[in-house]
Amino acid sequence: MSPEPDTSPVGIEHLPDGVLVADGAARVVQLNSAAVRILQRQRDDLLGRDVREVLPLQDTQGRRWWTCTDPWNGLATRTGHRERLLLLPGKEQPIELFVTATYHRPGHLAPVDRVVLSVRDAISRRRTHEEDGALISTVAHELRSPLTSVKGFTATLLRRWDRFTDDQKRFMLETIEHDADRVTRLITELLDISRIDAGRLEVRRQPVDVESAARRYVDRMVASGTDARQFVVNADTELPEVWADPDRIEQVLANLLENAVRHGDGTVTLDLMSGSEVLTPGAAAEPVLVVSVSDEGEGIDEADLQRVFTRFWHGRRRGGTGLGLYLVRGLVEAHGGRITVGRAASGGAQFRFTLPASAPDHVA
Ligand SMILES: Nc1ncnc2c1ncn2[C@@H]1O[C@H](COP(=O)(O)OP(=O)(O)OP(=O)(O)O)[C@@H](O)[C@H]1O
Ligand SMILES: [Mg+2]
Repeated sequence: MSPEPDTSPVGIEHLPDGVLVADGAARVVQLNSAAVRILQRQRDDLLGRDVREVLPLQDTQGRRWWTCTDPWNGLATRTGHRERLLLLPGKEQPIELFVTATYHRPGHLAPVDRVVLSVRDAISRRRTHEEDGALISTVAHELRSPLTSVKGFTATLLRRWDRFTDDQKRFMLETIEHDADRVTRLITELLDISRIDAGRLEVRRQPVDVESAARRYVDRMVASGTDARQFVVNADTELPEVWADPDRIEQVLANLLENAVRHGDGTVTLDLMSGSEVLTPGAAAEPVLVVSVSDEGEGIDEADLQRVFTRFWHGRRRGGTGLGLYLVRGLVEAHGGRITVGRAASGGAQFRFTLPASAPDHVA
């Protein structure tokens, strides 16, 4: 039997926004805790007082908002006000608020008997907008630099085709191809990231032999020119079975191995072990496959360890976009695993991630 639906009314106290109600005489008759916090006033300083006096709101041009709107004496057809950015004198500096007003009339054209104000803190919202703005400008910049070379070389080739030798043309076309690949990869990564951020990343699980996947990837890196002696793959004889998305696991391994070669140095060691880990807080430890990728480079500074998984963070040496590890963490967590970074015994960086062993319940 399903439980009875909870039909208890939701009061203004439950609302995330600040809510304040004034009666027909402009007296504050109700307000919630969010309003007290956002308006930075004491509840008793507001209740029962004239809202126009206790909240002398101004618009951004310094006009007195209550005089401009006048809900109680203004047009009888008004039903409220759309959201506006308003300023309220504060202790040290004005408080920026987004305010929406709804007027309630007991009958058609009757005088207003309730004014309901909804208030939101504008600073915190502006902060998210600023973060979005920074993200957009980083993405735009990352996309523009490879496209500038694509555009530059194609324009030059089209205009002066006959003046270049075959070798020069080949070089330009190779650069164009390389940069076009970079744009494609970047767009694919950005799409994956937006899926991760929205919790919509699809993980198509099936039994995956992570050791073979790792060896295959290493073989491919060797085939494309990396020295075979640079890699060592060690695996326990009995590894737990893992249900995962093979393409995503390859993406994780590829990013970690590529980082170890590009940002690290010396031999890159990949260890696959069985282990156990608490994956759900409060639950017992579960069997996991543990994968670690270590190198012999300079490693990552203590101060940067927390930052490596943030998007667009990259160290002193540029070259990458700083999306790789953000993506890797998202992919590992989408599989129910964990990833950490530390220092390898050899002094280089060591990335260690886990994947839950055995099939998840819903997979037959
Ligand atoms: N094995 C490593 N050794 C030293 N530093 C590393 C290592 N792996 C990552 N880092 C540091 O962490 C930063 C972030 O790595 P991440 O993979 O997210 O981005 P990236 O490699 O710079 O670019 P992308 O992977 O998007 O091409 C790197 O720029 C580098 O400074
Ligand atoms: Mg990387």
